Amino acid sequence: MSRQQLLEMTRSLVEHGKADTMELVDDVVAIPASDYTDEAQFEREKNLIFKRLPLMMAPSCELPEPGCYKAMEMAGIPVLITRQKDGTAQAFLNSCTHRGNPVAEGSGKATRFTCGYHGWTFKNDGDLLAIASPKDFGKVDKANFCLQKFPTLERAGLIWVTLDPDSTLDIESYLCGYDSLLEHFGFDSWHLFDQRTIPGPNWKTAYDGYLDFYHLPVLHKDTFGSDFFNRANYFAWGPHQRLSSPSKFIQKTGSDEQLDLTEIDEKDWPIDALLQGVWTIFPHISIASFYGGGGRGAMISQLFPGEKVGESYTTQFYVMEHEPTDDAVRQGAREQFDFLEVVVAEEDYKTGKRQHEALQSGLIDKVWFGRNEGGGQAFHQWVERLTKADDAELNRIFAPQLQAAE
Ligand code: FES
Ligand SMILES: [Fe+2]
Repeated sequence: MSRQQLLEMTRSLVEHGKADTMELVDDVVAIPASDYTDEAQFEREKNLIFKRLPLMMAPSCELPEPGCYKAMEMAGIPVLITRQKDGTAQAFLNSCTHRGNPVAEGSGKATRFTCGYHGWTFKNDGDLLAIASPKDFGKVDKANFCLQKFPTLERAGLIWVTLDPDSTLDIESYLCGYDSLLEHFGFDSWHLFDQRTIPGPNWKTAYDGYLDFYHLPVLHKDTFGSDFFNRANYFAWGPHQRLSSPSKFIQKTGSDEQLDLTEIDEKDWPIDALLQGVWTIFPHISIASFYGGGGRGAMISQLFPGEKVGESYTTQFYVMEHEPTDDAVRQGAREQFDFLEVVVAEEDYKTGKRQHEALQSGLIDKVWFGRNEGGGQAFHQWVERLTKADDAELNRIFAPQLQAAE
């Protein structure tokens, strides 16, 4: 079924490519410039988007086996994700139930966590195993002192977490069926080659760039080249969007050769052709696949809002279909990853920072998204809609039957 959807999208991209057309939305749309610079708006986004919606917190391959864990922070909330004995992933508030100190740091393997303040020990399923000096401390019912659990769902080799222990929003409904398309990457059996975190501009400024092919041959002329395509068609599942260039050509895996899809029987279209482009997951993930280091790879970019409105952080995960087995492959993957860091840090984010500073002058009141920038328009509409929705409305928006109807 979802393969059928991939085929339909590819057919549409090929048809547009043959006709030298693209899908255009109805209007050129303006967004208030203050949407990017207003501190109060930024706080609303942290509270109503990042602390209320399911977020893709880790690729499954970052926690490949039972006992693996990672501690991280998102929008000021300390989070611990573990892979438990039964193989399931579970996220917790990384805060000891004695007096709140984080129980874990960094990442690694551990089946229990001893708090560094007074020594309470928790299992990796969140249960309180033991308290220090129990006779002196006094009686506690351990069952009431487990680490707080966050709703967690692992799908398509990715782990989603809602940073609200009391959330009633169903994560699967929130994904709007998009996860069944992402399954085609096969990330659940991929390998994490490397990761790093880089600073960037306002999170929406950064995210705009991931939804935008219009800028590719201009801003990235020195890296991708000035003859790079600048058109994208957008496909949406609720707020989640895939963008891909309308073209009948796809670069053949592992070479510079272009395949003409009109000359290949549909049943033989390679999976790379069906998955090409950028897959974003609202509100903060972008997945771009490519060939690098002797096999299929993907860069999963995960945005975090920063302390201030003009700051964000991006963790780039470089995942590979196969773990590199020799130095040449490792070297190829390393070069590809380093190249992408330069593109994002030195071109996209440097421009985003300059853009932000100029907007902060307050002398420009609107920014514009063209008919060819429907993905950016949709992103800002979703931010507005979801920051205005109360919890009941949020559940209604993502109720499965309504999603199907939209
Ligand atoms: S805060 Fe963790 S043991 Fe006291
Ligand atoms: Fe870019």
